[in-house]
Amino acid sequence: MKTILITGGAGFIGSHVVRLFVTKYPEYTIVNLDKLTYAGNLENLRDVEGKPNYIFEKVDIVDAKEVDQLFNKYALDGIIHLAAESHVDRSIESPLEFIMTNVVGTVNLLNAAKDKWKNDFADKVFYHVSTDEVYGSLGETGFFTEATAYDPQSPYSASKASSDHFVRAYHNTYDLPIVISNCSNNYGSYQFPEKLIPLFINNIKNNKSLPVYGKGDYTRDWLFVEDHAAAIDEIYHKGKKGDTYNIGGFNEWKNIDLIKLLCSVMDRKLNREEGTSEKLITYVKDRPGHDKRYAIDASKINEELGWKPSLQFETGLEKTVDWYLSNDEWLKHVTSGEYLSYYKKQYEPA
Ligand code: NAD
Ligand code: DAU
Repeated sequence: MKTILITGGAGFIGSHVVRLFVTKYPEYTIVNLDKLTYAGNLENLRDVEGKPNYIFEKVDIVDAKEVDQLFNKYALDGIIHLAAESHVDRSIESPLEFIMTNVVGTVNLLNAAKDKWKNDFADKVFYHVSTDEVYGSLGETGFFTEATAYDPQSPYSASKASSDHFVRAYHNTYDLPIVISNCSNNYGSYQFPEKLIPLFINNIKNNKSLPVYGKGDYTRDWLFVEDHAAAIDEIYHKGKKGDTYNIGGFNEWKNIDLIKLLCSVMDRKLNREEGTSEKLITYVKDRPGHDKRYAIDASKINEELGWKPSLQFETGLEKTVDWYLSNDEWLKHVTSGEYLSYYKKQYEPA
């Protein structure tokens, strides 16, 4: 019997990790800690919320007292830390929120783990989930490896880089048994429609314009979210303490090429004439400090832990489009803000 804390479990990737752990490990108790910001949606977890090994706790990681209370309530064996402010455009508008949650919140968790575990670290794991954006931007060639120097460019990536440094510092200074992973762009079900793929699916469906930043010639490496969750499972259980693992899809796409592919899939799914959705493309002002290219060398996790992506991008994209088109109610609740009342209905009924 193990009790594992997953932070940010009501978010996009977190909800997939919670679902995987709750269903694959019925012998574990999974505590999902989430503040339920705009990005936290318990409707993402409707299918697991009745399971006996699942518990939800509404906690803000910026509040050290709340975090300590939670660590006193449960005897935790491990932590998988995903809670974060995650959207680059929002970080450009309000950097401080990113520093508070991503840096201060992470340090509050590190302090609680260090103090509660009292140097008895046998079999304990503090797993910090991070991003490839900490490495900055690549030119036309090359890949990020685990040895690439940090060079974050946005307030979001600077806050994630800072949190990574703190996690490593707690390993080096206090021997806290940590592991870190840095992953590329995720896509799939339950992603908040502010990120490129779900935003564009929703806009195409509603015949709204598709705002392409700059010339659309930026490159990202895309990974199906369930493959990321599977990698997290491997790293949590078998990753070497103190180590970092890069996770990626071996799947680079220029934004404009990806958008054109998405337009064509949507035309087909919506029985629209080929070329209809592409007409919605509108080139808009670029994101300031926009990173040109991300590409991940994920050979370490492949060689050491045997993980590799399971899906071809075309298949994953098709599955993703199908999910958004057949989960109209979820999308409507998210875009109308109705999901925000779900916690009250579910956990604080009158
Ligand atoms: P998300 O924005 O969908 O979810 C974040 C979750 O954290 C939400 O449920 C939110 O309510 C919660 N949260 C935010 N502030 C909190 C606070 N102060 N206290 C408690 N909970 C709080 O994010 P995501 O896309 O699922 O990303 C999850 C993690 O993975 C993040 O750490 C992110 O940096 C990292 N990551 C994301 C991607 C990606 O492509 N989305 C890629 C690599 C790494
Ligand atoms: O690389 C991992 C990162 O991927 C994660 O750490 C972040 O949490 C996650 O948000 C994502 O960051 P990006 O900035 O790459 O994702 P986003 O979906 O915002 O944008 C993807 C690309 O599409 C990027 O080059 C900007 C561009 N874009 C995005 C939006 C929302 C547009 O051209 N138009 C848009 O409207």
